[in-house]
Amino acid sequence: MPPIQTPREVKAFVAALLFAGFCASCAAAQDAQEDTVRASVASPDGRILVEIWSEAGEPHYAVTLDGEPVLAPSQLGFRFASGPNLEDGLALTETSTASRDETWEQVWGERRFVRDHHNELAAVFENADGSITVRFRVFDTGLGFRFEVERGEDGDAPVVITDELTEFMLARSGEAWWTPASEFNRYEYIYSHGRVEEAANAHTPFTLRLDDGPYLSIHEAALVNYSGMHVDQRRDRQFEVELRPWSDGGKVRTSAHFTTPWRTLQIGDEAVDLINGTDLILNLNEPNQLEDTSWLEPGVYVGIWWGMHLNEYSWGSGPNHGATTERTRDYLDFAAENGFVGVLVEGWNLGWDGDWFNNGDIIDFTTPYPDFDLDGLAAYAQEVGTRLIGHHETSAAITNYENQMADAFALYERVGIRAVKTGYVDDAGEYMRRDEDGHARYEWHDSQFAVEHHQRVIELAAQHRIAINAHEPVKDTGLRRTWPNAMTREGVRGQEFNAWGDPPNGPAHTPTIAFTRMLSGPADFTPGIFDLTFERADGRRGVQTTLAKQLALYVVLYSPLQMAADLIENYDAHPDMFQFIRDVPADWEESIALAGEIGDHVVQVRKDRNSEDWYLGAITGEQARSIEVMLDFLEEGRTYEAQIYRDGPDAHWFDAPYDYVVERRTVTAADTLNFDLAASGGVAIRFASQ
Ligand code: NOJ
Ligand code: CA
Repeated sequence: MPPIQTPREVKAFVAALLFAGFCASCAAAQDAQEDTVRASVASPDGRILVEIWSEAGEPHYAVTLDGEPVLAPSQLGFRFASGPNLEDGLALTETSTASRDETWEQVWGERRFVRDHHNELAAVFENADGSITVRFRVFDTGLGFRFEVERGEDGDAPVVITDELTEFMLARSGEAWWTPASEFNRYEYIYSHGRVEEAANAHTPFTLRLDDGPYLSIHEAALVNYSGMHVDQRRDRQFEVELRPWSDGGKVRTSAHFTTPWRTLQIGDEAVDLINGTDLILNLNEPNQLEDTSWLEPGVYVGIWWGMHLNEYSWGSGPNHGATTERTRDYLDFAAENGFVGVLVEGWNLGWDGDWFNNGDIIDFTTPYPDFDLDGLAAYAQEVGTRLIGHHETSAAITNYENQMADAFALYERVGIRAVKTGYVDDAGEYMRRDEDGHARYEWHDSQFAVEHHQRVIELAAQHRIAINAHEPVKDTGLRRTWPNAMTREGVRGQEFNAWGDPPNGPAHTPTIAFTRMLSGPADFTPGIFDLTFERADGRRGVQTTLAKQLALYVVLYSPLQMAADLIENYDAHPDMFQFIRDVPADWEESIALAGEIGDHVVQVRKDRNSEDWYLGAITGEQARSIEVMLDFLEEGRTYEAQIYRDGPDAHWFDAPYDYVVERRTVTAADTLNFDLAASGGVAIRFASQ
């Protein structure tokens, strides 16, 4: 259905009233237009329809799928710390439309070619104090909208936003999956699952299923120069955008003419449609800014890392120091032998001794511990055919890091490091910057200050040909399209919690994050633990999966830098299973989620970007289940050897996590495979083209 244009007469009438500053009459004008001035835009397939209008002077929008309401009328608008708000007295004065159907190529990712197919509607709301242009882009998989705001004053005049009034008013109840915003552990929570009405202060991506469908995901795209949003349920089913404030209370520091990030709503008939529809987020980001991306190296890496989480080694100096020259050489040899792209080494630099968690101000990003020969190891890495991966743990002491950042990246570039893991360990709200007077100010990990800090890091790192893997980051909003060196990040309750977290991640965790956190972009979850039964201090089982499920995670949870997280010696016990980690790529030609339900199971296939091979990963939650996979995604007429790594007949995450079978079968696109997945089990397959 084509967008409806606002009638010219109404436009002229309202404009004239506005010009005359006739406020009482303004309301009348809007009343008059409420019935008549509605603009709408549909998705290319016509199923999703967005309508926008002014109601009592307040901009509203609503969304339907196949004519059924998805979002009931939901308000839009802004409040500011001073000067006029843009909240009421707003008339819809002008609309324009556009369409796009283009395909662009990703530097690396879940698929090489991304189709951007949408219809656009820009609706201008005006009052005497300024205007809000709401720009909608509607895809077959959902929609995004952003605000282009012009307050009356000079465009550069500083303005502080105190509230963005954007609402998502769900048309009916349903189920929700969410992690809590504003609590101490940032994004590192087990997902809650309940009725929509139980959710409060939800981080995004916020996943929902309305009763009788569809599945929804609320998120944002292209988060720059703004603070991160979460959604708060004010009344039943009325979710309002909450912007993370600065330490002085304002939400966003901007200028009188500003553009917001995109607010996004993915819509799908099936749960897997959400996974298959995430290109929407990338399509709402700006194109790649990096001319040369040849130095970006997707792949698997190992690290001196898990040993510290198991308490076998220390980050700080001493008899158990993890980051020694000798151990790093062993890891480099292992990485080179197995074709891995690098070795992460944590605890290599001064500052970890004592209380590194709380003393970020003394971390030194350019001085190695005496028992870590940075130059020699970096050179050795390249000699054997791999690289060191750098590490900057800031402990969220941002000014200390920013003061050293230029030197730190220059040092890494000089020794040939191409990827750096950053870290921002500290409680949410303890992101420390020093103001002009040297006083400590504490910001949030998803504040505008944090967003702008990460942007500075990405841009500086790009100048030094360095990719970033940020832990305790701001959530992903698709900026990897614009800055492909923003390769991966944490922002999830990762494998580390299985070493020491209370509780460890349960069987449902990964089949839940596949439909929630993963919708935002790559995650450094760090799969591949092979010693599943190590002793935890509390006596609990830490890794609550079978061994086959650890392999399947390489396909299910996408990251262009994918860790083989265990101590390298632990891979000796199962060389037949380790072969899968040697083979699996981290850069894909195509990806398809075939089946799944949130928290229960997911079946994902991906085609290698550099060969004709396909890979499959399937995982379950607590329930064992049988799955049937039609192989019609394979190329017709081609024969493949299916190298299958599956749960054995007695496998169970608690009783028999090591019961597995490795087998080979010859298959074609005409075949169907059946598998029995154990409780918290999985299957991983390489379809090697013959
Ligand atoms: C938390 C990170 O998630 C983890 O990967 C890292 O080892 C520690 N911080 C220390 O930097
Ligand atoms: Ca973490």
